[in-house]
Order: sequence, then structure tokens, then C-alpha cells
Amino acid sequence: MVSRKPRKIAVANEKGGVGKTATVINLGAALSLAGRKVLIIDMDPQFNATQGLGIKPDDVGLSVYDLIQDPSGQAARQAVIPTHWEGLELIPSVPDLSGAEVELVDVAGRENRLRESLADLDGAYDFILLDTPPSLSLLTVNVFAYASEVLVPCQTHPYAFGALTELFDTIGAIRNGINPGLKTAGVVATFYDQRTRVSNSTLDKLKNDQHYGPLLCEAVIRANTTVAESADVGKPVVFYRPGSYGARDYISLARELDG
Ligand SMILES: Nc1ncnc2c1ncn2[C@@H]1O[C@H](COP(=O)(O)OP(=O)(O)OP(=O)(O)O)[C@@H](O)[C@H]1O
Ligand SMILES: [Mg+2]
Repeated sequence: MVSRKPRKIAVANEKGGVGKTATVINLGAALSLAGRKVLIIDMDPQFNATQGLGIKPDDVGLSVYDLIQDPSGQAARQAVIPTHWEGLELIPSVPDLSGAEVELVDVAGRENRLRESLADLDGAYDFILLDTPPSLSLLTVNVFAYASEVLVPCQTHPYAFGALTELFDTIGAIRNGINPGLKTAGVVATFYDQRTRVSNSTLDKLKNDQHYGPLLCEAVIRANTTVAESADVGKPVVFYRPGSYGARDYISLARELDG
């Protein structure tokens, strides 16, 4: 059997509420719709990606918490659960995950626990997408140690730039240390509203920025309440409302990244 090498994409931005989870769920679903085998790993104790895929806390057996505690690989295989959609699988999160940080304080190699536990799983997928919390926690560092690329959702709002600077400083530090091969998959503009001046001026600034301009994805994710609604009912927007702006934008992003 030829073992495939998946693209392991961390979706990250230390700023909260910029569309990280929406991007993980909906990009993952759009890629699965295109026939790719996708695994979503929810590394956020808020477990929004888990809920957004229709999985309730009671449905969760093993979670990423068990992976961090037992990096032997055994837990990882058992923690993968199917979703309602073909080709889209999940390793869920649980609120307890926030405790992992404290428990690992004295553990040597604590930033590599996720990488070790997932080492055997790679071959089964084309894409592994990882959701991260809105902070530079040990959980995020574990994600950066394991990932091959980072995709950065960036809200089209003037405050977004400060968060980008911080994140790229972090990515630089990770490259200088635990993961020299970590690439940038792109910066994707989110919550774009063509009717507002701030949205347009921020998108223009991003396009013309000497650092971020070349990294900016062509696909832009528009503000679309259907995206929020779909998260609320636990279905990716591409399955919930296929014709919506949200579905169309995430399908464009999937095509661009999969090209
Ligand atoms: N394109 C969009 N249009 C409208 N609402 C959206 C869009 N993308 C995400 N949302 C909604 O905005 C809120 C924040 O989005 P999301 O949870 O994806 O951000 P996040 O970066 O993961 O947040 P956190 O940092 O708390 O993890 C959610 O209620 C989500 O459903
Ligand atoms: Mg989130």
C-alpha cells in the first residue's frame, strides 16, 4: 500500500472570533465534497468544531485529551469518529482539555505529544485540519509542532493587523525551534462585507501589504449569517445551504488550496 502524505493544516490566529472554527469545519466539508479524505482535529477546549459537526459531548468517547495523555498511537486510532458526512472524520475535543496544559507542565517533550500520538494516522487522509484555541497555549504549540502548514483566517477589520504580526512572530519562533518545515498555506480574509468601508479598506490594506499581500488567498469569505446558523444546527454550511454565499466561498477556498 502506498502511504499518502496528508497536508496537515493548522488553522490559527491568536485573536478570538475571527472564523478559525468556521474555516476548519467548512473547508474540511468542502474538501470532502470534492472527494478528499479529511480528518478534523479539534484542539480547542471550547469544542466548537466538535459541536459544529453535530457531535454532542455525550457522543464523545476518547478525545484529543486522551491523545495528549497517551501519545503511544493507540488512543489516536480509537479517538477518530465518523461524522454524518462521507470522507469527513473527527477527533473531538472535550472541555477537560483545558486541564492538559497544567498536567503537562513537568512533562519532558510536552510540545510533541500530539505529533507522537498521530504519527501512524497520516496515511489514511488527504487533509488533516486542526482547529486551535484563541491563545498561544501549549495546545496550540502541539498543533504547530505537528502541522505541515498554517492557514490564517483574518477578519476584515482594522484590528486584525496586530494579531497577524503576533501570529507570524510565533510562527517564526516555531520555525526556529520545534518545526523548521512549517509552511504558510495562506491568509484568508473573513467576515468580508462589501457594503462597509472598513471591510473594503482592510481588504485593500491586506492585498497591498508587503508581507501579507503575497500570502492572501484569492477566495474571500463573506460575512453570511448562514455560516453562523449552520454551526448552530451542527452542519457544515456546504451541506446545510449549498447555494449560500458561505458554501460558495468555502468551496472556492477548497479549490484554491487543493489546486
Ligand atoms: N463568514 C461568516 N459569516 C457570519 N458568521 C460567521 C462567519 N464565520 C463565522 N461566523 C460566526 O462567527 C462566530 C465566530 O466564528 P468562529 O467560531 O469560527 O471563530 P473562531 O476564530 O473559531 O473563534 P474562537 O477564537 O472563539 O475559537 C461564530 O458564531 C460563527 O458561527
Ligand atoms: Mg474557534
